[in-house]
Amino acid sequence: MCGIIGVCALNRNITPMISLGLRRLEYRGYDSVGLAIISGDGLVIRKAKGDVDSFLSRFKVEELSGLTGLGHTRWATHGPPSDVNAHPHTDCSGRIAIVHNGVIRNWNSLKRVLELRGHRIVSETDTELIAHLIEDETPFSSSFFEAFVRAVSRLEGSYAIAVVNADEPNRVYFARMKSPLVVGLGDGFNIVASDIPALLDSTRRILLIEDGELGWVTPTEVKLFKLTELGLVSVEDKDLELRVRVVEWSVEEASKQGYPYFMLKEIVEQPYSIKSTYEGNVEDPTLRLAASLVWSSRNIIVTGAGTSYHAGLIFSYYLSRIPRRISHNIIASEYKLVEEAVGEGDIVIAISQSGETYDTLEAVRAFKARGARIVGVTNVIGSALSRESDIVIYMRAGPEIGVAATKTYTSQIMSLTLLTLFTALEGGVLDYSEVRSKLEKLSGAHEIVARAIEKSLNHEIDLSLESKSTYILGRGLGSLIAREAALKIKEIAYIHAESYPAGESKHGPIALVEKGFPVYFIATSDSPEIEGNVMEMKARGARVVVVKTDSWNLDVEPEDTVKIIEMPLGENEILLEPYPLIPYFQILAYKISVAKGHNPDKPRNLAKTVTVE
Ligand code: AGP
Repeated sequence: MCGIIGVCALNRNITPMISLGLRRLEYRGYDSVGLAIISGDGLVIRKAKGDVDSFLSRFKVEELSGLTGLGHTRWATHGPPSDVNAHPHTDCSGRIAIVHNGVIRNWNSLKRVLELRGHRIVSETDTELIAHLIEDETPFSSSFFEAFVRAVSRLEGSYAIAVVNADEPNRVYFARMKSPLVVGLGDGFNIVASDIPALLDSTRRILLIEDGELGWVTPTEVKLFKLTELGLVSVEDKDLELRVRVVEWSVEEASKQGYPYFMLKEIVEQPYSIKSTYEGNVEDPTLRLAASLVWSSRNIIVTGAGTSYHAGLIFSYYLSRIPRRISHNIIASEYKLVEEAVGEGDIVIAISQSGETYDTLEAVRAFKARGARIVGVTNVIGSALSRESDIVIYMRAGPEIGVAATKTYTSQIMSLTLLTLFTALEGGVLDYSEVRSKLEKLSGAHEIVARAIEKSLNHEIDLSLESKSTYILGRGLGSLIAREAALKIKEIAYIHAESYPAGESKHGPIALVEKGFPVYFIATSDSPEIEGNVMEMKARGARVVVVKTDSWNLDVEPEDTVKIIEMPLGENEILLEPYPLIPYFQILAYKISVAKGHNPDKPRNLAKTVTVE
């Protein structure tokens, strides 16, 4: 996944806007950085392997100036991180520069054709080919835009691209297919970028761009077209107006606000994000509409990737417990496991914080093609998932910049719990007063998570930094929360953590346990029988830590090899138990990462949104 930005302005040096944009985009990819500025009669290009800070200082970017330019932060997909593979890329003439996020599937065949036609390809990237393709189409085109369109029409795969042409210094061309792209509308300038945080320093007015659309911006206008089988169809200005949104996110919200890392900021933000999710959705008629779809559906498929998949597991559990509907959880990249069985009358709950995860979008498109209706649960306005969905539930958690999903996990659970309750109401399983009393409890979840965060922040790290492996076990709800806890420990603390149903651990996994082996239990009130599993592990010399809420009693005595950590909850309500339990593991992973000298915002090998298959 990469971050792209393109800016053109009337009478304002755009270099500072690009530099700021690069800083906002760094979380999307940080193995190399570059920019191109139209200056004088030509293109000035600076690019290198490395992060944004080193790039900006090394090239003294503040000394560059121009009215039109591009910027790019890279997360390598084609070609390793290197100076030559960094974007922007140019054509042979050096007059065309391009930045790109996505994967061009037919890059090999395009490369062979271009080299046969005399183009000299200098990098290992698929992106460079697009610049040569535009150059190659130019002699057969009546305008640069026509050459741009003809080149884009030959691409297969995913792309969000921005292009500048030194011969047309007041335009930035763009195209979008299965990769995020948004236009920022300014006064005397316009911006094309991968996402909203890249725009916030300059404007909060955004224009949503759809897959298959392309066009150009000048400092004062936006021209948009849709690429269809019948050719290019212009999007009328009145339709453009309908797509304009004003983003409430302030620059501050997208910045660290004084925290050392986005991950800590976003963990600590959970009382606010959960409150925002609750208050933004509880009265929303969209949720009621989604609930009626869920209740009246034949099969209920719940899909997502990573943390979003884990949130879906909890949704399915609540759905079975309250409206008593059975659902099927499918990891998005494994949608083919059920694809043939999906059809008319089925509903898909597709969960994606970014709304741009390739695997989730592919699953949604496959299920949709088979006649299923789609309820999207996402955090980003105008995301691809929001446009593929029949109904969209916005998590309203505010921007999440850290690669690890933290506040968006609890916001997903809140959104999905509300959907569960309104589904039960729709089906007459609960009446208004019963739903109202559950909502009353949920409306206090933000205070519960605040107390859990405070207790966890003050708790020592109870997992040795040298640990090579740990089990995180649970039963019932606990086994589902354990999935997310284990992911956090793996992806942020870099310790192998395996989650397992506690009852299952005696059917094999317990063989790994020897003296001092760390085993966590997430004990929830729906499964007090977990006590036996705790004793089994203790008997084999494991170093046991039980994390539970203070709302029920577990008949296990603490001792030197069995620690019991109680998170404040007060009343015994299964719908509230994730909120006091997951922060402990989010913070544990964060603390271990920092203690090991890592950057929890940029875990190795990972990116915030995986827009490649
Ligand atoms: C979770 O901490 C990871 N960042 C990752 O598993 C993430 O949840 C997954 O890639 C899905 O992202 P999405 O919610 O934006 O679709």
